[in-house]
Amino acid sequence: MNTVTQNSHSPYSSRITGTGSAFPQNRLTNHDLAKRVDTSDEWIADRTGIRERRIVRPGDPSEQNSSLGYAAALKALEMAGKTPDQIDQIIYATVTPDTLIPSAACWLQHKLGARRAWAMDLNAACSGFVYALATADQFIRSGQVRTSLVVGADVLSSVTNWSDRSSCILFGDGAGAFIVEQTHAQSPHRILSSHLGSDGDLWEVFHIPAGGSNLEVTPEAYSKNLHKMNMKGKEIFKSAVRTLSDYAVMAIEANGLKPEEIDWLIPHQANLRIIEAVAKRLNFPMSKVLVNIDRFGNTSSATVPTAMDEAVRDGRIQKGQTLLLDVFGAGLTYGSILVRW
Ligand code: ACO
Repeated sequence: MNTVTQNSHSPYSSRITGTGSAFPQNRLTNHDLAKRVDTSDEWIADRTGIRERRIVRPGDPSEQNSSLGYAAALKALEMAGKTPDQIDQIIYATVTPDTLIPSAACWLQHKLGARRAWAMDLNAACSGFVYALATADQFIRSGQVRTSLVVGADVLSSVTNWSDRSSCILFGDGAGAFIVEQTHAQSPHRILSSHLGSDGDLWEVFHIPAGGSNLEVTPEAYSKNLHKMNMKGKEIFKSAVRTLSDYAVMAIEANGLKPEEIDWLIPHQANLRIIEAVAKRLNFPMSKVLVNIDRFGNTSSATVPTAMDEAVRDGRIQKGQTLLLDVFGAGLTYGSILVRW
């Protein structure tokens, strides 16, 4: 586990100056899913809180992973008042890049024309965006980067086993992006701390067996859906509630705050029941928790930035408020970031 607070020696800190999000056009409702697998709108809504999700049209260039990232990045740039040539660094959190080579980050750089930037992908599954934001924060605080574009985008529909009713109901596609800029260390608007962890011993509860260098997607692997997500839902559920709670407490305590001083909790959106269980454990009212899972499902690394972008744009998030970003994902990976907006 790695914890970084900002009372260190750097004269700099990071400020989020722009947010953006993008989703594919096509809605896939629970009723649509009930035509494919043995399920119902009622079961999915009761057990997960999800009513619909967005799914890309395969082959549509405007709905490639990096095209969603591009649309989200343009909105974040506009909010920040920046142009692509001012970006120093692109960190792209994803597990479903357009291609394995080149990275989604390089595809995005190409689409944006962000020629001054260097670009890389980061894989921490659903925790990816928080890992990427923490990484950008480190580069900014070291003085090496002034303006970073951080993206969380996934097209999980491409790795969903559409015949497995216990997992195919959960996921959707989407992208979120932040512009993060260098500011002075004691700025009232800054990232206050980041807390990251992982436990590779738990790899088996959520993995994709084929498609990496261990196992090629042979016709046999393909016929067994080994190139799709394989999930032990109950184990993940329990671990998620525990670690989301732990990492929230870690961030609050590291900054000497009380839970009631947090204005918004922005958790990974995997299951509304997980979110409610965490809020209950923290004694935190659901009225201060950002939720978009009902409309978009679990969009992996895009859940936190898209939920936050929505609340920034509709005015729920106000200047000076304290925001707690809190995630878990395959790996398993975990993390939290505390932000003074
Ligand atoms: N429709 C109807 N019935 C279903 C469905 C469905 N879609 N899926 C499962 N069932 C059935 C099961 O077969 C089981 O039936 P049985 O009792 O006859 O065997 C019954 O419902 C209960 O199944 P459970 O697995 O106990 O259901 P649970 O309440 O645990 O919900 C779920 C399952 C939604 C998968 C839940 O465990 C969950 O959300 N886990 C977390 C998953 C997750 O977060 N994954 C991603 C994490 S990492 C990342 O975000 C990338």
